[in-house]
Amino acid sequence: MATLNVLQLTDLHVTPHSGELMLGIDTEAYFQQTLKHAVDRHGPFDLILLTGDLAQDPCADTYQRIYRHLSRYDTRCLCLPGNHDDFSLMQTQLNTGKISCDKQLVLGNWSILMLNSQRINSHIGVLDDDELDFLEQTLQSHINLPTLIAVHHHCIRSGSPWMDTMQIQNSAAFLALIQKYSQVKAVTCGHVHQAFSKQEAQIALFATPASCFQFTPHSSEFSIDETPPGYRIFQLYDDGQLQSEIFRLPITMTDLDRNAHEY
Ligand SMILES: [Fe+2]
Repeated sequence: MATLNVLQLTDLHVTPHSGELMLGIDTEAYFQQTLKHAVDRHGPFDLILLTGDLAQDPCADTYQRIYRHLSRYDTRCLCLPGNHDDFSLMQTQLNTGKISCDKQLVLGNWSILMLNSQRINSHIGVLDDDELDFLEQTLQSHINLPTLIAVHHHCIRSGSPWMDTMQIQNSAAFLALIQKYSQVKAVTCGHVHQAFSKQEAQIALFATPASCFQFTPHSSEFSIDETPPGYRIFQLYDDGQLQSEIFRLPITMTDLDRNAHEY
């Protein structure tokens, strides 16, 4: 297979009812616009990754609406949970046809791993023993496949102290594990509602903007800013190299409720 064209969308925060506003904006409409912009400008995609916080207050209808928006594009999608999601409900509503909550996919010459960093009833991230066992076993059994790992929470500091209280608590163990496997090329996350990238040994670490509101970089407390929604695109090459770039909607965020103190 030739180069894989992969889209990452994250932190949709779709509300329980269509048209409902969150922090002043219609998160479902922004998700639709972000998805359409990505497909129109950079599609078709071989794969779409949805990396958590698909729902703000999870209910079956929210996941069904997300499913309908995604299924219009007839593209394979992998979904993982964020701190706001109900993973059991996600698995019942987003596991049909090309859309799934599968934890691993071999596509072309690449292995894609989808990790669950959710700690129930908490916004803090963790990779529990079962998740780390799954990760290590899968890496051992696909030693020759370049690997992209997706996970909701961040595993290195974002630079925003309030946000960094929620990063993966056992990040050191996670990073030590993946650095043993030279086929791991990149880890990409959501959660921080902003973009960053950093290289750690052979591994590129990425964070991706939300498809709704963004958090203010380097803020010491909860703060949203007027940066537009965005998404990340990966080009995964057969030889294990990759390129990644962020794109944003060409809009001005004029309706944000910037007086909000939490989300
Ligand atoms: Fe989020």
